[in-house]
Amino acid sequence: MEKWVPLFPVSASSHADAVDHLFWFLIIVSGFFVLLIVALILTFSIQYRRGRHPVPEQTRNSIGLELLWSAIPFLITLVMFTWGSKVYMDGETPPQGSQDIYVVGKQWMWKVQHPEGRREINELHVPQNTPIKISLTSQDVIHSFFIPALRIKQDAVPGEYRTLWFRATRPGTYHLFCAEYCGTNHSKMIGSVFVMEENEYQAWLAGANDMQPVEAGAKLFVEYDCMNCHGTGQRLRCPTLGGLYGTYVQLSDGSKALFDESYIRESILYPNAKVAAGFPAAMPTFKGQLNEEQISDLIAYIKSLSPGAPLPEARAK
Ligand code: CUA
Repeated sequence: MEKWVPLFPVSASSHADAVDHLFWFLIIVSGFFVLLIVALILTFSIQYRRGRHPVPEQTRNSIGLELLWSAIPFLITLVMFTWGSKVYMDGETPPQGSQDIYVVGKQWMWKVQHPEGRREINELHVPQNTPIKISLTSQDVIHSFFIPALRIKQDAVPGEYRTLWFRATRPGTYHLFCAEYCGTNHSKMIGSVFVMEENEYQAWLAGANDMQPVEAGAKLFVEYDCMNCHGTGQRLRCPTLGGLYGTYVQLSDGSKALFDESYIRESILYPNAKVAAGFPAAMPTFKGQLNEEQISDLIAYIKSLSPGAPLPEARAK
């Protein structure tokens, strides 16, 4: 497609093809009706002009014709709706077993964290043909993570995690943009996405020995004395953390909350927002002490804990 319409970015993901097909369907249908209506306006203005018809003739309604031109557009819009919902839902639902990557936007850069340990700035290396789930947040203002070649865009909003996913199908280097005005250097908040063959990607991953997020999170867990309450042997004071990820926790106000990235993050920063049932609201806030990358490390560590996992013992006072 990009060969004959140079305005289009290349299509480098399965989702990109789906978006393009829908886009062209909308363009062709809209174009057809624009041309039809313009042609009818011109024809009728000439054929029924006043010079040829000084006295208007009486006309009668045609029920059949009116039903036809209501039913056909209705059916076409239903097709647009169904097709559009399908493309949207597919784009919103990461497949099971997607590879997690954390991205934090901040004025004015993108910070990327791979679960295997590598960290990068304004660059994103991904393997080809592997579903990648990106958990996105911002450390300051609203940014927007935009990769035109993959046809994906998502706001990075401070205070919450948004997700998006893709399966890149074509090795190459593609543009990464911030698509939300976020201050003076917004236009410089750009980067590159490198889609690599699986073996190249593994070689790239092994090319640096940054600490893995799970390891870094485990270290923070001890540094910030989390185990003084959440550690083994302290289970009466605080909820256990192992095996909770992806489950629903009972809250003290009777409702339930999904134990996911956003819940863990909120509980670290605003511990009293959603208190687990049966425990005192005794946790202090860590707001201002941890940055977004440290929080995502802690989340990776808590996600990695299996049910009943031994946690570090409380520090002797
Ligand atoms: Cu970040 Cu614009």
